Amino acid sequence: MKMNRVEKFLMNSPVRAAFQIWYEVPLLERLGGRTEGMRVLEIGCGRGVGTREIFRRFGAQSVYALDIDPDMIAKARRRLSDFPPERLRFEVGDVTAIDAEDASFDAVFDFAILHHVPVWQDAIKEIRRVLKSGGRFYFQEATSHFLDKWFARTFLEHPADNRFSGPEFVAELERQGFRIGEKWVERGGGDYVFGVAFRL
Ligand SMILES: C[S@@+](CC[C@H](N)C(=O)[O-])C[C@H]1O[C@@H](n2cnc3c(N)ncnc32)[C@H](O)[C@@H]1O
Repeated sequence: MKMNRVEKFLMNSPVRAAFQIWYEVPLLERLGGRTEGMRVLEIGCGRGVGTREIFRRFGAQSVYALDIDPDMIAKARRRLSDFPPERLRFEVGDVTAIDAEDASFDAVFDFAILHHVPVWQDAIKEIRRVLKSGGRFYFQEATSHFLDKWFARTFLEHPADNRFSGPEFVAELERQGFRIGEKWVERGGGDYVFGVAFRL
């Protein structure tokens, strides 16, 4: 589900970029380490702020980044026009039907997208399909604790049901064949969940 105008304004703001670069990325790096030389998929890349960090901070060799919203893909392409096509490809696409072979990525990054997907469990199935055995799934997600708040209910637009808490998200990953152990944390009083899951 695409973002509404309010959420687009917020997600495209410098405040969002700063939070992602200075807080989320270092936390995910602490949990899962770098992805030096790896082939990475980023789902719901938005305008590409996280995409640049996957190269700069995590050291990926190449990134295939997709987003369901053509406007966001156009912004991301402009933002990262300095990267050669053999290292970076942006495509309009849906995380529940990823245009990639089985076991074709070493790592997948999710910066705040699956809470937009009506049947997010199907997206996890796809992520597992395209990850190699032992591959890593880095995630940062907004939970039902956040989505139930007045601000989110009034100004933002998300699927009405089938949302998740942090523990429910982690339990679904484990149910679908990921190992997480201690590599996840809740932040913002349960509004957000961060972690790194390993595909078994
Ligand atoms: C909250 S924004 C996060 C954008 C960016 N990752 C960031 O952290 O700034 C969620 C993004 O997921 C995209 N999205 C929503 N549903 C999607 C789907 N089914 N497949 C791919 N992208 C999707 C939206 O278009 C939007 O760009």
